[in-house]
Amino acid sequence: MEPESIIKSITPPNLIYRIPSIVEQLDLTLLYSKDQPLEVELGSGDGSFLVNYARLHREHNFLGVERLLGRLRKLDRKGLRAGLANLCGVRIESAYFLEYLLPPHSASALHVYFPDPWPKRKHRKNRLINARFTELAQQSLAPGGVVYLRTDDEDYFSQMVAVFGVNSAFRLVETPESLSGVLTDFERNFQARGVATRRAAYRLEFKL
Ligand SMILES: C[S@@+](CC[C@H](N)C(=O)[O-])C[C@H]1O[C@@H](n2cnc3c(N)ncnc32)[C@H](O)[C@@H]1O
Repeated sequence: MEPESIIKSITPPNLIYRIPSIVEQLDLTLLYSKDQPLEVELGSGDGSFLVNYARLHREHNFLGVERLLGRLRKLDRKGLRAGLANLCGVRIESAYFLEYLLPPHSASALHVYFPDPWPKRKHRKNRLINARFTELAQQSLAPGGVVYLRTDDEDYFSQMVAVFGVNSAFRLVETPESLSGVLTDFERNFQARGVATRRAAYRLEFKL
């Protein structure tokens, strides 16, 4: 047996992609066996949403971006159990990922569900969705691509609506029911406790 095939045969299958460089853009052809539209979830948590959605849409590729390894491992386990070849996860900070690693205009959708709300006024600067994020989304999405947002935090929701509302490249659109019906881990928990949640979606009408 050739040394390379020995390594392959003893390396367990893994959906967590180790980013080879933090200064060079990803080569997406190395992540998936098929060249298909890419959807990215930022802060993918335990992977519940992505695994279920990727199972329903084998004709798309999905990428979970998550900073916590323990949560990424859950995505890995669930995705392997479901036999998904169209799902990967990367461990990195979301805004950095969009700015430096994701090839421009390569995503057909960005999903951002229940990002950390940072409720204290002095911590709001840490929120992922801000004016700069709309520019990063504009850079990341292919024309016609959509950013899908969900949150339980009213103040954060107002901020999301405000920042996308003033970026003229985006237009407010409906979230299809076939998507809103696929719940995330946090969302299931909010629903069980009767906590109201909000959602919005913005379509990129033209490139940066
Ligand atoms: C409140 S949880 C929501 C998880 C999942 N989206 C859901 O709805 O079940 C937020 C997740 O985003 C991750 N996260 C927070 N900030 C991040 C960042 N800047 N980059 C990558 N992941 C981040 C956290 O580790 C956590 O898993």
